[in-house]
Amino acid sequence: MKLNSVGVMAVALGAFLQGAAASAPNAIGIEPEAKPLAYNPMIFGQFLEHFDTQVYGGVYDPTSRFADEDGFRKDVIEALRAIRTPIVRWPGGCFVSAYHWQDGVGKKREGTWNKAWRVEEPNTFGTDEYVKWCRKVGCEPYICTNAGTGTPEEMSDWVEYCNGTAGRFARMRAANGNPEPFGIKYWSVGNENWGAWEIGGKTSGEWGNFVLESAKMMRATDGKITLLAAATTQPGWTLPLLKRTGHLINDVSIHCYSDGGWAHAAPNDYIRIMMRTDAAERNIAAVRNIISSAGLAGRVQVAYDEWNARGWHHPGLGAFHQGNAMDFPARRKSDRASVYTMADAVYAACQLNAFIRNADLVHMACFAPCVNTTGPIFVHKDGIVLRTTYYVFKLYANDLLPYRVPAVVTSEPLKYEKSSTAMIDAAVTADETRSRYVIAVANKDPAQARAVKIDFASLGAKPAATLSGTVLTGPAPESYNDINAKPSVVPAEATFNVKDGAIDLPPHSVCLIRITR
Ligand code: AHR
Repeated sequence: MKLNSVGVMAVALGAFLQGAAASAPNAIGIEPEAKPLAYNPMIFGQFLEHFDTQVYGGVYDPTSRFADEDGFRKDVIEALRAIRTPIVRWPGGCFVSAYHWQDGVGKKREGTWNKAWRVEEPNTFGTDEYVKWCRKVGCEPYICTNAGTGTPEEMSDWVEYCNGTAGRFARMRAANGNPEPFGIKYWSVGNENWGAWEIGGKTSGEWGNFVLESAKMMRATDGKITLLAAATTQPGWTLPLLKRTGHLINDVSIHCYSDGGWAHAAPNDYIRIMMRTDAAERNIAAVRNIISSAGLAGRVQVAYDEWNARGWHHPGLGAFHQGNAMDFPARRKSDRASVYTMADAVYAACQLNAFIRNADLVHMACFAPCVNTTGPIFVHKDGIVLRTTYYVFKLYANDLLPYRVPAVVTSEPLKYEKSSTAMIDAAVTADETRSRYVIAVANKDPAQARAVKIDFASLGAKPAATLSGTVLTGPAPESYNDINAKPSVVPAEATFNVKDGAIDLPPHSVCLIRITR
């Protein structure tokens, strides 16, 4: 492989790929007569919660030398723009289930007690600041409402405040300096109200009625909104919800963290994370079945609007018993750069591949969160660190083509203890006429390059001697990027040698392969 980019890692990489690819038990092609289907770029969305340093000290820090006139960190805005962030969900997450939006608007902002995370919420970053920040990022706002201590009326009043042209809350927005409606299209009812830890948890029967009432009032305020509702992959919860509200909601909201770091601060290592890379494919299949059994296939879609390999570390969430405690300093354990390795990058690529493969059903996805905690961007006083997952979004959002073509992927297994997963995970994208393809493929093997046969005939392409592409990897599976260190995980342009129709993919890597017919 000849590398166009300079870099020690890139040269080392070359050693892996010079080898001729022997016959490959792994192969990527497409279904005959495959029809391209545009996937929704909203799958590259992000999430921002009032938790630890995501808002205050993250996106919003008037004391930072990187702050603009509104107190927003310009380096964070630039980094989110560089990955073409299409949508950011806000303000929570658990936070929202006891958040009253009126505390965060107007000239006078009182601090309130954040009952979810048990710290004071200064309310200096509220709806108006969030919308202004989204406009600078160039993304759609997406508001998750309070279905814990909130009411359907409070939710619909929030819609009026943001989108109304008449009524006291519309007038309140104008008086606060925003005469024009914000036009916020995306709204969800509640956050994980199915969870015992959530303030305002509800039974599935209660939830169906609550969402119905909320949807009625929110749609009575703005009939053009796209409405989502918290749901799960369990039919016992989500089927009653869909039967009660399927005619009024557009999406069900699904969450997944595969390495539950909220309680333990011992992140799972590379190979254990690899064994969880099929999470999104499994969850989407489960929800697809529920939506179909509710008779709503093609009507209700999926918003996978909180996902990450790593759970956020906040021991004590849900500890409402006597003597409950939350260990605040423990939250900073999520800041450890060494947690976010090539495991996180390969996991992220596999989830994004699943969203692309299921383009007919997945409408949106939001990586949780976008800044600090377990996010792709970490801020510090002298700048930002772009973690491994950031570069997956950078490659996918900028370099994939806009249509999904149904892929035919065969793969040998990657096994660990009693678990097994496909060694390679791929999605095939194309332009509308299928004159060009960009294949996104991950090699999960922690140690070995893997040969992958490209079924050129199925692509309608002539076999090539070399293919150009991009490789994201690091010197080791546990490689990560950190403050004051030369990043060890950055994308490198690459040329893949084709031998017997196959190319070699480096170990622990995410690759984009470009093919022109
Ligand atoms: O760990 C963070 C929490 O994860 C979010 O606030 C909530 O939505 C999810 O349970």
